[in-house]
Amino acid sequence: MPVNDNKKEIIRLLRGSEGNPVSGQEIGEKLGITRAMVWKYIRGLRREGYDIRSSPKTGYILDACPDIIDPVELKGLLKTSLVGSEINYYSVLESTNNTAREIAQKAPEGTVIIAEKQNKGRGRLGTEWQSASGGIWMSLILKPSIPLENVSRVTLVAGIAVTNALRNMDIDAHIKWPNDVLIRGKKICGILTEVSAEVQKVDHVILGIGINANVKLSDLSEDIRRNSTSISNEMGKVIDRNRFVASLLYELEQQYIIFKTKKFIDIVDEWINLSDTIGRNVRVTTPNRIIEGKAVGITEKGALVILDGNHERHEIIAGNCRYIN
Ligand code: BTN
Repeated sequence: MPVNDNKKEIIRLLRGSEGNPVSGQEIGEKLGITRAMVWKYIRGLRREGYDIRSSPKTGYILDACPDIIDPVELKGLLKTSLVGSEINYYSVLESTNNTAREIAQKAPEGTVIIAEKQNKGRGRLGTEWQSASGGIWMSLILKPSIPLENVSRVTLVAGIAVTNALRNMDIDAHIKWPNDVLIRGKKICGILTEVSAEVQKVDHVILGIGINANVKLSDLSEDIRRNSTSISNEMGKVIDRNRFVASLLYELEQQYIIFKTKKFIDIVDEWINLSDTIGRNVRVTTPNRIIEGKAVGITEKGALVILDGNHERHEIIAGNCRYIN
């Protein structure tokens, strides 16, 4: 077996033992190598950042892994059949959404593009997205048979999935319309949905999801930092990004199944449950107007319904939303 495969296999065995020691002899037998070779690989893994304890009597215990997204490990953790059926991992990209767009036509539905770094991460409404190290920067290619006017629904579904994945870790996350996920009022995730359509029928949707997972807030510019947080900042520890991405892809698949099989009104109910936007006074800025008023609901198309001071009703499909007082 090549060196890297042996190392991966050792990590897999140590992970599988869930904190119990695995002897050098057992590893050696499984890999068909000597105990001395096992020891050599263990030293190599330690140099790569794996924290492996060893005791001559009992064996090796894996205490901690370096914070890297490992596509092989990620695939091994997946419990999905469609979402993540292909995972294209890159150490650096300009933007995962750009790469997804280049391959979307030929790529199978469910393909995920994930990058450790983005040099030109893009946010909504033409903004820059700061992709500091330790984050999760990924794009998912979906091919739903829906009319163009219903694409915003897919964004709502993605917001539900991210929020569920965070709540599974006991993080009190809420969705802010249209697609930010916040913790204690601070942004932890942004979603950029891009679509390609022909004659009003969707060809593919690219769901770009950016999550400040293990991002150090000091790596963000001051203006962004003020209103941002990260999972590691909230939990006080670095999380295992491979496990988190696997859980996120699972939630995305569950929500996509619901999207395809249930009535949209059920999804709206779930979205409202997880959101803290409805009932708030908001100011929404769109390219051509600013609306202030109370957020009172979500329409069939995913638009935010606002009642202004004159009780006039506005439906806004895209814009920048701020909570006021
Ligand atoms: C927002 O403005 O809130 C949306 C941010 C979306 C960022 C993600 S990171 C992965 C994907 N690639 C990009 O260039 N943008 C999205």
